[in-house]
Amino acid sequence: MSGINYSEKIPNNVNLATDRTLQRALEHWQPKFIDWWRGMGPTDFQAADVYLRTAVSVDAEGWAQYGAVKMPEYRWGIFLADPAAERKIGFGDAMGQPVWQQVPGEYRSTLRRLIVTQGDTEPASVEQQRLLGHTCPSLYDLRNLFQVNVEEGRHLWAMVYLLHAYFGRDGREEAEELLQRHSGDADKPRILTTFNEPISDWLSFYCFTYFTDRDGKYQLKSLAESGFDPLSRTCRFMLTEEAHHMFVGETGIGRVVKRTLEVMKELGTDDPARIRAHGAVDLGLLQKYLNFWCSSSLDLFGNEISSNSAANFANGLKGRPDETSYEDHVLRESTFQLTTPQGEESVPMLNAVNEVMRESYLKDCEIGLKRWNRIIERAGHGALALKLPSSRFRRSIGIWAGQPVDPEGNLISNELYKDKINSWVPSEQDRAFVQSLMHRVVEPGKIAGWVAPPERGINNLPVEYDYVRLH
Ligand SMILES: [Fe+2]
Ligand SMILES: [Fe+2]
Repeated sequence: MSGINYSEKIPNNVNLATDRTLQRALEHWQPKFIDWWRGMGPTDFQAADVYLRTAVSVDAEGWAQYGAVKMPEYRWGIFLADPAAERKIGFGDAMGQPVWQQVPGEYRSTLRRLIVTQGDTEPASVEQQRLLGHTCPSLYDLRNLFQVNVEEGRHLWAMVYLLHAYFGRDGREEAEELLQRHSGDADKPRILTTFNEPISDWLSFYCFTYFTDRDGKYQLKSLAESGFDPLSRTCRFMLTEEAHHMFVGETGIGRVVKRTLEVMKELGTDDPARIRAHGAVDLGLLQKYLNFWCSSSLDLFGNEISSNSAANFANGLKGRPDETSYEDHVLRESTFQLTTPQGEESVPMLNAVNEVMRESYLKDCEIGLKRWNRIIERAGHGALALKLPSSRFRRSIGIWAGQPVDPEGNLISNELYKDKINSWVPSEQDRAFVQSLMHRVVEPGKIAGWVAPPERGINNLPVEYDYVRLH
């Protein structure tokens, strides 16, 4: 089951050849996807040979194979994790009943919406990042960008397979529209706001892969709990690929920290102006980027109190990430203590699932912070330690939306907020400065001056390996 058939037009481990109607429908969508990739994917690198990994199995051990590939020839396919025998619904009112192999009629439109919303973010991120290749800090980074991009393309395939296989004509129409909406398009934008902002510098790319791909991880984890088994299996395999995206973010930011500390040591100063003049990112500036990307990613979890999420949970469609780690899987009896701008409020736990997810996401975000701060402390600059902003800071969705809150989470006056916001998130000058650092470095083994080289290369190859061959 876990082996992937590569002799077919669409690589898959779902016995696609035994369902000719579905196979034809997907083969009809395939050239449209390739057209989308050529038109909206990374610009000007379609002819480059990129050292990419491709899934060859869904086993935890040895699931990927590495080699030079031209991106439009990447073997995008349909890979589901192996089924778990006798799997039962693990939460909600139908807890303990067998999982569904088909979509229950009453949940059809809700499940379709969940799949389309997740599916929309995947090509959106490729579109957001399409110009980044021009300013890559090294071939190693360029390769990582493209690895993330082709895998987001595959995640689109993962969702389109579900739409085609389980949602009939509506599903096929949704699959078309996933290629018609575009990030930042005035008429047909992507569904979620965060995915309509271009990512035009590599510091933002590292933050995006650290914070926003991690939101993706948490969404996939909660969908991996779903009672709709094909969705669960699809998401479980996507999580295997997703881990690398967050690795790119965590090590990317870590390398920026390392380089900044080197410059501080060399110059014998922590003066931001002098650090910037030397072409590095001062830690205060990095903190502003963290504040910006963390707060915008927190919005992706939605309202603190949500009847939709309550229904999705009660009906067994979408659980909490790591559902088995909780004791109560029904949530009909318990309550959640919510801090609102008006004070403490007790709400039914079932309605607070989004907030529970947000809290577990933030805990996961702390892991990188600890690692970066260890480097900062070791260099003797513990006072400049980085931190996550409060989940109330700069929110656009939920009970704290539009509230003047500082990064520590205190409600302050509107005047003070307006006064200070440019010292908490990147100002226009800050962004212009970061942009000024973005120069393309493509000699093997060379690296831009604002970021340290990685500790090791990809798949045991040296750091100076020719990861992307440009033509
Ligand atoms: Fe993804
Ligand atoms: Fe991702």
